Amino acid sequence: MALETATAQASGTAATDKFKKERAPQADTSPERAAAIYKDLFKAFEDITLKHQITYDEYEVVKWWMIQVGENGEWPLWLDVFYEHVVEKANYDRKGYTGTQGSIEGPYYVDNAPKLPAECEMPMRDKDREAQALYFTGQVTDIDGNGLGGATVELWHADEEGYYSQFAPNIPEWNLRGTIVTDDEGNYNIKTLQPAPYRIPHDGPTGWFIDSYNGHPWRPAHLHLRIKHPGYRTITTQLYFVGDGHLDDDVASAVKPELVLDPQPQDDGSNKVVYPFALDKEEN
Ligand code: DHB
Ligand code: FE
Repeated sequence: MALETATAQASGTAATDKFKKERAPQADTSPERAAAIYKDLFKAFEDITLKHQITYDEYEVVKWWMIQVGENGEWPLWLDVFYEHVVEKANYDRKGYTGTQGSIEGPYYVDNAPKLPAECEMPMRDKDREAQALYFTGQVTDIDGNGLGGATVELWHADEEGYYSQFAPNIPEWNLRGTIVTDDEGNYNIKTLQPAPYRIPHDGPTGWFIDSYNGHPWRPAHLHLRIKHPGYRTITTQLYFVGDGHLDDDVASAVKPELVLDPQPQDDGSNKVVYPFALDKEEN
């Protein structure tokens, strides 16, 4: 991928291309369900439009902005920041899960990251090794605490400058991306680095949107994870760091108190944190 600069357009286009390549989205939505959803949706539009007396100028700005979002490939960015969190909540609530909380996937997941053993170091460059080292350890279990050997822990996150491999230029393809396989007891012990607080790409239409209400583009620093084991609910989640200035005003509204880590400084200068994952049984 020949990206020259880390612009919103470049990362948006890469996110759009990835999404189109890796998925053929399908939903078994019945016409009755579609009708019910659209009816409520348009009722909400109607109420908002009348309440705020939306002008024709505003209508045309929205139309023009939507065209720009599409042309810049930024729909995955905008939707994952402003909408995905509520879809995630609806799905957790509907299934009545009790295991580890999920959070949004965001636009930068890539499947098939290299397999790594339970005790491993994430793929990283020498410059990443100069960042604050983080040992991330724990166990994947069922909700009764039985270890799940052979579970996969997919981990992906931004580097110390806030860039994701495959979505920003000049980063090795699988940098800070891996599929860790737990040992027989479900344990993992991963060496990675503390990611930086993260600014969503904001030099394009997603950024204009944020500027229009004097908002900010920051997310707290985070690790992305997807935990899988056959027969169990796949958890897609994120973990954050205590003391981060953006825990309470994440632009993507994706922080949950259960997902905040408190890493402990070690004698060798690294930080260490233990975080377990409990998977619900997947219902048939
Ligand atoms: C976006 C980026 C992220 O890293 C994330 O976790 C969520 C959303 C985004 O730019 O849309
Ligand atoms: Fe992210």
